Amino acid sequence: MDPAYIRNFSIIAHIDHGKSTLADRLLEYTGALSQREMKEQVLDSMDLERERGITIKAHAVRLEYHADDGNLYQLNLIDTPGHVDFTYEVSRSLQACEGALLVVDASQGVEAQTLANTYLAIHHNLELIPVINKIDLPSAEPERIKEQIENIIGLDASEAVLASAKSGIGIHEICEAVVKRVPHAKGDPDKPLRALIFDSWFDPYRGVIILTRILDGKVRKGQKIRLWTTETTYEVDGLGFQSPKPVPCDELSAGEVGFLFANIKTVSDAKIGDTIYEAARPITEPLPGFEEMKPMVFAGLYPIESHEHGLLRDALEKLRLNDSAFNFEPENSVALGFGFRCGFLGLLHLEIVQERLEREFQIDLITTAPGVRYLITLGNGDVLEVDNPTKWPNPSEIIKIEEPIIDATVITREEYLGEILKLLEEKRGDQKKFEHIGGGRVMLVYEMPLNEVVLDFYDRLKSASRGYASLDYHLSGHRVSPMVKMDVLVAGDPVDALSIIVHKDFAYERGKGLIERLRKLIPRQQFEVALQAAIGAKIIARESIAALRKNVIAKCYGGDISRKRKLLEKQKEGKRRMKRVGRVEIPQEAFLSVLKVS
Ligand code: GTP
Repeated sequence: MDPAYIRNFSIIAHIDHGKSTLADRLLEYTGALSQREMKEQVLDSMDLERERGITIKAHAVRLEYHADDGNLYQLNLIDTPGHVDFTYEVSRSLQACEGALLVVDASQGVEAQTLANTYLAIHHNLELIPVINKIDLPSAEPERIKEQIENIIGLDASEAVLASAKSGIGIHEICEAVVKRVPHAKGDPDKPLRALIFDSWFDPYRGVIILTRILDGKVRKGQKIRLWTTETTYEVDGLGFQSPKPVPCDELSAGEVGFLFANIKTVSDAKIGDTIYEAARPITEPLPGFEEMKPMVFAGLYPIESHEHGLLRDALEKLRLNDSAFNFEPENSVALGFGFRCGFLGLLHLEIVQERLEREFQIDLITTAPGVRYLITLGNGDVLEVDNPTKWPNPSEIIKIEEPIIDATVITREEYLGEILKLLEEKRGDQKKFEHIGGGRVMLVYEMPLNEVVLDFYDRLKSASRGYASLDYHLSGHRVSPMVKMDVLVAGDPVDALSIIVHKDFAYERGKGLIERLRKLIPRQQFEVALQAAIGAKIIARESIAALRKNVIAKCYGGDISRKRKLLEKQKEGKRRMKRVGRVEIPQEAFLSVLKVS
């Protein structure tokens, strides 16, 4: 199609502001889906996505729209993941667009994620169309939200579209605004091929499916293409676009968005952000912005049943086929046996992987406390990257420890400020910005260690603000910090999987809290169990669990067998989540309790 009639756009919004509902409505309005075919939130294809109500994978849907000017337009709607863990994927999806709908909830207003995504869009020079959604709500205040968009983001909101994705208000206006305000796709179909990979996934029949935006040139079936970073040549087996069902086509040309497959074996061979070009017409420079996706959060995954180790490895390998951001390597814990050290983009990514392992592969897991990757300079000049407390070097050899630092943006109401400021302080945050943004709300920007966020920051922020705080962050660098390794001893034995890295000044308090929580979580045994937290040889906290005296069954009266069985089953259920470490049975919660501070 002539690029003058192509519009590539995306929807950016804070979580729950109505992105998926609006996308569905646009599909319905343009006839891509009849109402009968319409399943709620078609763009979120994975079950897990649907259940959690989040979008994990970006998708691109081609819509045909007959505009008021009498012309037929091709609108490519590129869906973006809505979570801070997937910022890189969002940025690549935005790179494939010329414009974006900036959806803001008419009663909630601008939130942290709205801002973060808007800055990304501005960085990519996208034309932003403000859409004030949910105007059907009695609490909607579109005028106030317009002001917010102007004051906080600095965007002209006088022509914002007022919409209700739920009841279908403003959908025609949104389509017209896309046609009129989003710049048309540019690009020359006769130039050598240059195309951006903005998403990829593994299909068991076709191999890797690539979602791509063609910048220049054309791609056809049978064509030999090359990928810039891997320098590998493939032959295109097939191509098409999603509408939203896959529709095969003969060629994709400059300005268009679609998918292709070329017998590529794993997603790590078709990296998001990489450039596709034609083998016969090489280009001299790739598209800008490519980055290797780097895990930022690390945790150990162990099967509860040690014979499931092979099963877990196979499952991790299968997941990795489809998720190049996730990595793993075998690790051996004295306490937990054979398992894997895994790297994730963030906490949500970790939870998703963990849940898929349990649900799709039926493997019961013990997950150790998530941590971050430290840069450690040793006396001999070596610099180590350490993401596992068990690999922490001997303190006498360490010259310098640097930890990853983030810039965190929090938007909240004034009444919760006191609690939130206290929390940020406790989490070793340094204030960089404090701004009243109108409507009784405040925007805070803090520099703080990522390590503190992977502890229990989300939960604490939520309770400090009764849910009225939004958070977004990005990695800003590293900072020298006096971190130490804290070990936990259960009945005299160090439990390696409970070791954590903490700031020296907070070690005593954390150790004390941790030991207290463990005392409540570890069930009584036949003997008294001592719990200790230690830094090196120095014990910094101790507690003990008194010995068990009563037998559970003895509590049952008479011979009520069904009651007895129930009790035993309950115990068994409990056991599934226990791991015997030395002489003591430790429940899963204990490994995670390392995280909680209060
Ligand atoms: P994530 O996929 O989690 O990022 O959320 P989202 O931004 O896609 O939001 P989603 O479309 O799932 O909508 C969140 C909630 O708001 C759902 O319960 C929707 O039914 C509701 N919602 C969406 N649009 C409207 C609207 O215009 N009016 C009202 N009243 N509710 C809406």
